[in-house]
Amino acid sequence: MFNIVVLVSGGGTNLQAIIDNVENGNLKDVRIAKVISNKGDAFALKRAAKHGIEGEVISPKSYPSRDIFNEALKTAIDAAEPDLIVLAGFLVVVPPVIIRAYRNRIINIHPSLIPSFCGKGFYGLKVHEEALKRGVKVTGATVHFVDEGTDTGPIIIQKAVYVEEGDTPEILQKRVMEQAEWIILSKAIELISQGKVYVEDGVAHIR
Ligand code: GAR
Repeated sequence: MFNIVVLVSGGGTNLQAIIDNVENGNLKDVRIAKVISNKGDAFALKRAAKHGIEGEVISPKSYPSRDIFNEALKTAIDAAEPDLIVLAGFLVVVPPVIIRAYRNRIINIHPSLIPSFCGKGFYGLKVHEEALKRGVKVTGATVHFVDEGTDTGPIIIQKAVYVEEGDTPEILQKRVMEQAEWIILSKAIELISQGKVYVEDGVAHIR
């Protein structure tokens, strides 16, 4: 079995897509060992519980310092012995201590075509607000490995989505999720679990 740990902060629709793909057999030999949230009230935790998946809350507020929170997060991840860590709407900066321990074994889904609309401050609805403000006609989503920067790691898969006249950030967010995020995040997990993704000179390739 290929063990994954999924880190979440919110609604968990990307987590749901992974759960569905595991349950319907699209993601063969993949097991969601644990879901970790930095927020106790994240709906994603309810989704996990509904499917019998262990959920754990590691909130920075519960720890006296950021370093101690970071260590607690690493301990919670290590305990599940993951082959891959999946950031599915996880809005906490992953500390270097975890990135070093899991080099090229952490992936993130970002709701734009990186390097557009990414980096510090670009998360969730904000990304779509900025895309609409700039007037781009095509946006999309990206799955990438996580390195020490913000959205700077090797790109694994991207999928383009058209912006339509009259889109609001909410409408665009939903289209990007449906047409791109929910598909490519599971696809990346599948390819990695099958050993088909490798990184060379900072660039990810699919064999
Ligand atoms: C998703 O759109 C994801 O791409 C985004 O947060 C949303 C979480 O939704 N992530 C980022 O913006 C990371 N920079 P979900 O909880 O329903 O999966």
